[in-house]
Amino acid sequence: MNSQEFYSKWYNIYADKVRISENLEIVNQDREFDRDGIISSMENFSVVELLKFLKVSHQYYLSKTLPEIEQSLLHITGRYSEVQRMLTSLAFFFNSYKNRLVSHMQKEDEILFPFIDGLVLAKKGELSAVEVSFLLTKNIINDFEENHDAVEDELSEVIKVLFKLSSTKNIPLPFRVFLNQISFFELELRKHAIIEDEVLLPKVKELEKRLRNQM
Ligand SMILES: [Fe+2]
Ligand SMILES: [Fe+2]
Repeated sequence: MNSQEFYSKWYNIYADKVRISENLEIVNQDREFDRDGIISSMENFSVVELLKFLKVSHQYYLSKTLPEIEQSLLHITGRYSEVQRMLTSLAFFFNSYKNRLVSHMQKEDEILFPFIDGLVLAKKGELSAVEVSFLLTKNIINDFEENHDAVEDELSEVIKVLFKLSSTKNIPLPFRVFLNQISFFELELRKHAIIEDEVLLPKVKELEKRLRNQM
């Protein structure tokens, strides 16, 4: 199993738990978004499981979703000169958006998630007292809450503009495919952010509080 298959496998196992009605035919801005359903379907997972899911999701986005979207974009950019101007600015936006999203995920992968891994080890008693108190001197969770930028939400703004554009023009099929891809990805990112902010973080804060009380 190569790494992409590995991530796909894990991603699909977890994604089934948060899958909400997805209709491949129609994509529109008023898709139902069952925030409470997402939270309640994920709430029974432990911190360790949630972390595994979020890490695997990042890998899946990086190795599968984003390359596929870029592929579609290349395809339509090369073929349809009549919508060239719109697509060029779209490609430009998407590229800068992708860079911000990738660095957003990197920050989580390199700072937030390892910190939570540390808390989990501390809870299991696998860290020394010195290591635990060093871990707790870091204000990672507060910093994260203050600075967890809304990169996941930015895509929805762009999609709104794109849908407006596409309803007034005769848009080629591959462009609709692209719209579908980014639209599903946007929905996916919103779910992802809810799991991070509203399922994982409350659990982690509780864990951190208990460890502080034990000091
Ligand atoms: Fe994330
Ligand atoms: Fe995030």
